[in-house]
Amino acid sequence: MNVVPRELMTKIPVSSADFRGAMRHLTGGVSVITAGRGKDITGMTVTSVTSLSVDPPTLLVSINRDASSFPLIRRHGAFGVNILAADQLDVAERFAGKGGLKGADRFAGAQWVTAASGVPLLVGALSVVDCEVEEIVERHSHGIVIGRVRDIKNSARTAALAYWHGQYVAVDQDEDAARLAEVSVPVRSLRGA
Ligand SMILES: Cc1cc2nc3c(=O)[nH]c(=O)nc-3n(C[C@H](O)[C@H](O)[C@H](O)COP(=O)(O)O)c2cc1C
Repeated sequence: MNVVPRELMTKIPVSSADFRGAMRHLTGGVSVITAGRGKDITGMTVTSVTSLSVDPPTLLVSINRDASSFPLIRRHGAFGVNILAADQLDVAERFAGKGGLKGADRFAGAQWVTAASGVPLLVGALSVVDCEVEEIVERHSHGIVIGRVRDIKNSARTAALAYWHGQYVAVDQDEDAARLAEVSVPVRSLRGA
């Protein structure tokens, strides 16, 4: 059963600049959402993919209702999640609309396979997830799209693409784990470990 949105009691004015400033501190993994089938395809770069539940396997993504992917996701009831590797920055930029590219033109320059649901999935992504739409909750400017996972392909690659403070950053398991290990030594010794 869906919960009815609460009538908020407090009307505290928060500026969008302050809100954006807070969100810039949030490091987000970068994915490309793909939608549609055949030649009627499009996609978009997002950082809002989040795991919802493991059993059943579901995830959610928050998508602007004006984005070209939104009507295709709703019409076909399916979408793909392509979790980008650090060397797929060019794909992230194309699907964020760089150069004014739209629809099927965004897919050029990378290799794609077709999922069982019909959506394109990116070859070489860290993971690709084929989802069926379970529910779309429309709230404010966005739709919270809940996807039931139908298929997953994980790669053995690890270096991820993230977005932080308005820029793309690479998160490399080998390099960053070594650096974190160095940092964690003084932290432990401070606690008297
Ligand atoms: C790093 C990054 C993350 C983004 N995350 C989201 C997101 O989670 N949801 C969203 O609606 N748009 C997000 N966007 C914006 C969309 O990628 C962009 O508006 C989209 O490509 C526009 O699609 P359209 O031209 O097909 O309408 C993000 C953009 C960037 C660069």
